[in-house]
Amino acid sequence: MTLILGIETSCDETAAAIVADGHWVLSHIVATQHELHERFAGVVPEIASRAHLEQLDPVVRRTLADANIPIDRIDAIAVGNRPGLIGSLLVGVSSAQTLAWATGKPLIGINHVHAHLYAPLLIGEKTSLTPHATPCTPRTPHSSTLYPALGLVVSGGHTSLYQVHGPTDLRILGKTLDDAVGEAYDKAAAILQLGYPGGPKVDQLARSGDAQLHQLPRSLLGRDSLDFSFSGLKTALLYKVRGQPHGRGPGACFERNSNDLTSRQRADLAASFQVAAIETLIVKLQRAMDQLTDGGAAPRRLIIGGGVAANSLLRQRAHELSQRRQIPIDIPALPYCVDNAAMIAGLAHEFLASGSVDGLDLPAIATTTE
Ligand code: KG4
Ligand code: ZN
Repeated sequence: MTLILGIETSCDETAAAIVADGHWVLSHIVATQHELHERFAGVVPEIASRAHLEQLDPVVRRTLADANIPIDRIDAIAVGNRPGLIGSLLVGVSSAQTLAWATGKPLIGINHVHAHLYAPLLIGEKTSLTPHATPCTPRTPHSSTLYPALGLVVSGGHTSLYQVHGPTDLRILGKTLDDAVGEAYDKAAAILQLGYPGGPKVDQLARSGDAQLHQLPRSLLGRDSLDFSFSGLKTALLYKVRGQPHGRGPGACFERNSNDLTSRQRADLAASFQVAAIETLIVKLQRAMDQLTDGGAAPRRLIIGGGVAANSLLRQRAHELSQRRQIPIDIPALPYCVDNAAMIAGLAHEFLASGSVDGLDLPAIATTTE
């Protein structure tokens, strides 16, 4: 059995996990920093890296203790080394480098965004309790029935479509030109004064609202475009809530205040925002499927990963799409949608198995084009 210790610190979650043979999550701990960032309604990079420094050591120790595995039983150390906040990444990368050096184990740097698309292949204690759970027999990632797949990553920092030829072989098809969908959710929550992180709060509130009450824009860009844009949707919500601005920039005055909304109005606006955001994602998925199929590379499966994959409406609409188009779909169990280190350790198994490991000079990289 191959055991990999994964470390993840790219944004505002300090996480560690131990994964066996690329599938079995033996332990997995995520320490969130939400409380620290809440009053700023977004992640403050300096606060995030400082908190990672404080949290990472105890999180790694607890992860090893929970699995009852001594560090010398671990076969490799994996770390999300790109993309992300550079100060946050550096904390995880330098800790992983130190562990790899001290134990003499191989070090593997992982692309965080690609790891989100590996997450459905994880099997953990909690997965069988959630809807749309991964079946409890591991599928080998190279099974010919799994690839090529069409992957959609929807997170706080990314909204990207990929043609997935294998867990380590991805080709980008489209990405957001401005805000990521998770970022738009967080900003919508700030506009509606729901708190941070906004995605789960908007999702929850939207369930009691009337999604048909407000027509908010779905930005589909050009007819064939597989890129995304969510800044118009966010601004349209702002104007619906607060009326037209007088003046520009941070000094602009609005006709109304968000405090003036009743809870009913807030729920209707959340529902209208949610349906516009999620329908945009579904249209793009359909477009990508059609284009790949027309080009003779029909996907065998859909994969959706990232924090917004926890969204109830996206999960429902994606499953309807999969039934309508008769194509299997994989969405991670809820604990593995948001940032976690199990997906880092799981994907690292692929690299370890092919002998592709990194040197102790592994860099932290803030932005990638992959
Ligand atoms: O993947 P993730 O944990 O971090 C990044 O890689 O960015 O995604 C975090 C994002 C946040 O923007 C959060 O608001 C959003 O995922 N999110 C959701 C839901 N749960 C988390 N968005 C919509 N509905 C949800 N249920
Ligand atoms: Zn993420």
